[in-house]
Amino acid sequence: MTNRTFTMLKPDAVENGHIGAILDKINAAGFKIVAMKYTQLSKRDAQAFYAVHSERPFYGELVDFMSRGPIVAAILEKDNAVEDFRALIGATNPAEAADGTIRKMFATSLGENAVHGSDSDENAAIEGAFHFAGREIF
Ligand code: PPS
Repeated sequence: MTNRTFTMLKPDAVENGHIGAILDKINAAGFKIVAMKYTQLSKRDAQAFYAVHSERPFYGELVDFMSRGPIVAAILEKDNAVEDFRALIGATNPAEAADGTIRKMFATSLGENAVHGSDSDENAAIEGAFHFAGREIF
């Protein structure tokens, strides 16, 4: 277990004006922001970021969605960060997410589910490095 995870507040969350509310929940849950940027993925960026899902039926839809507008990318620090952040965001499908989770509160659908959280320590490191240079991490 490492103490960092990687997140993106997805285009739907930004479009719907939820950046501040989601960051409040992240802070209240004890995560420290050690890197953050407001940015937009190109289609090519999104294809590369989600390459692991390239054979899934929803890949094209996911790439189009994730590249359609700005996102907030961040690296978060806390003990047990990956697991605790996945608990905070809730199930992938907001209809199945527990009350009080970020996806339950802010996601609109399975495809547009407000927030990404790394699923392993290894992927947290890879995904953080995809978005941030070492000098951007504090
Ligand atoms: S799985 O089966 O556990 O690998 O799937 P999961 O990790 O839940 O989902 C991987 C990412 O794909 C997104 N996703 C979808 N997008 C569009 N349409 C459908 N049906 C769909 N199902 C899953 C999901 O939001 C995950 O994105 P990230 O950014 O990792 O949260």
